[in-house]
Amino acid sequence: MIVAIDGPAGSGKSTTAKGVAEKLGYLYLDTGAMYRAATAAVLAASIDSDDELAVSDCVETIEIDFDETGRLIFLNGEDVSQTIRGQEVTQNVSTVSAYPQVRKRMVFMQRGIAGHRDSVVEGRDIGTVVFPDADFKFFIVASIEERAERRQKDLAGLGVDQTVNDIVEDLKRRDALDSSRDVSPLTKSEDALEVDTTSMNIKQQIDLIVRHVRDRSARKETQAIGE
Ligand code: DC
Repeated sequence: MIVAIDGPAGSGKSTTAKGVAEKLGYLYLDTGAMYRAATAAVLAASIDSDDELAVSDCVETIEIDFDETGRLIFLNGEDVSQTIRGQEVTQNVSTVSAYPQVRKRMVFMQRGIAGHRDSVVEGRDIGTVVFPDADFKFFIVASIEERAERRQKDLAGLGVDQTVNDIVEDLKRRDALDSSRDVSPLTKSEDALEVDTTSMNIKQQIDLIVRHVRDRSARKETQAIGE
């Protein structure tokens, strides 16, 4: 069973996906963290993120693993869970994640991790490219102001002080890059259910998705019994 959760940065998809995975007892896979870890590897090797060939070669050699909760991420065995949330990685990740070779390797790894287990997988292209046959697909959206305010709170928790205006500008820049790239741009899969979380709290978002998955799964089972 694959539950695909896509959406732009700050839409609330990470917190929602974690909560849904916990409630359903499924594996949680944060594919954004994988692109961030790849970017951290590129920066650690002092490679210019605009150098597509060098970036692609570097990403080809890295190993990425998660702990059993899916919350800690390891790059070549080293815990990089904090590093990947830093400014430098955030500023370069859209460039690195736009390269076809990088995406190819990440998608291969993602299918390997989540392909044989019940999983909640969150990202930008999960319902469209990574798992186009996912059992459930959600596309999470929220207003840009709400997304910026949520991001500000997250950053404050990490000790980073940034104005809402600066965050709005950064989100717009990343939205434009993520949505306009040639390979696997951020788009809603036709068969995904759109969830606008602007005026929802985390519990409501999680409950809505869990209820939807449970109701539909129960209906499918009943149908199968009746066949
Ligand atoms: O969800 P996030 O902000 O941690 O994602 C970081 C970046 O990774 C984001 O700018 C776009 C990219 N990304 C992607 O291209 N495809 C995915 N499936 C997930 C993330």
